[in-house]
Amino acid sequence: MMMSDKQPPLVWFRDVTRSYGKGDVEVAALKNVDLAIASGEFVSVWGPSGSGKSTLCNLIGGIDLPTSGAVQINGEELAKLPDAQQSSHRNRSVGFIFQNFNLIGVLTALENVLLPLTLRGAETSRARQEALTLLDELGLAAEANRLPDKLSGGQQQRVAIARALMTKPPLVVADEPTANLDSENAEKIVTLMRHFNRSVGTTFVFSTHDDRLLDKVDRRIHLRDGQITDDVTVAPFSNSSEAP
Ligand SMILES: Nc1ncnc2c1ncn2[C@@H]1O[C@H](COP(=O)(O)OP(=O)(O)O)[C@@H](O)[C@H]1O
Ligand SMILES: [Mg+2]
Repeated sequence: MMMSDKQPPLVWFRDVTRSYGKGDVEVAALKNVDLAIASGEFVSVWGPSGSGKSTLCNLIGGIDLPTSGAVQINGEELAKLPDAQQSSHRNRSVGFIFQNFNLIGVLTALENVLLPLTLRGAETSRARQEALTLLDELGLAAEANRLPDKLSGGQQQRVAIARALMTKPPLVVADEPTANLDSENAEKIVTLMRHFNRSVGTTFVFSTHDDRLLDKVDRRIHLRDGQITDDVTVAPFSNSSEAP
């Protein structure tokens, strides 16, 4: 991955603290975190329950702001933008995948994938074709016109991946995307995210407490008590026999 020296990291945290509550009941979910993730990386965030994984994902995804410190995503510090620009920056820069899929029950798989474009009035026949192509790549060609409750958990999460990718964001954040899936489907989800990381260059950051998924990533960031205790870059999981 080529990166010029002038380009800031896609995700850039400087001395970031996120606290909840005030005074005696204040809890720092993240404490003084410094973090840089470059464009094209495939990263997992892992650690025990309560370690700050969701808090970190929400900050990376721009759906939360730090209590102190600076979070810069794709060259912009969200907290410094007016509200309206915050949401448009978020919509342009980040796709989000949730643990419980968060599909709209009355919409078909295809309509769910198209939703980000429907909401901005950009649902063209070309977009429809792109959505169908994405569903096909995710092994869901036959499911395009089904409602979510007719799909398995693994299929629903694949629809959610397609929805996150539909606007072609540089960054996709997934908070425990495999927590509700069996291990076979969990591996499939990670393999599919990796496929889009390689083919489109999308940067993925996903949290997990399943350490069997960790050997599938390039980099793993370990959290404990709101701090990064380990940040290891490992070899990519496929073509690992080739020297870098
Ligand atoms: N909305 C909230 N209000 C108060 N405390 C919170 C809130 N969200 C998270 N926390 C606290 O912050 C810490 C980290 O939580 P979280 O980021 O959800 O961790 P994880 O996703 O690793 O389980 C925990 O101690 C949790 O109780
Ligand atoms: Mg969590």
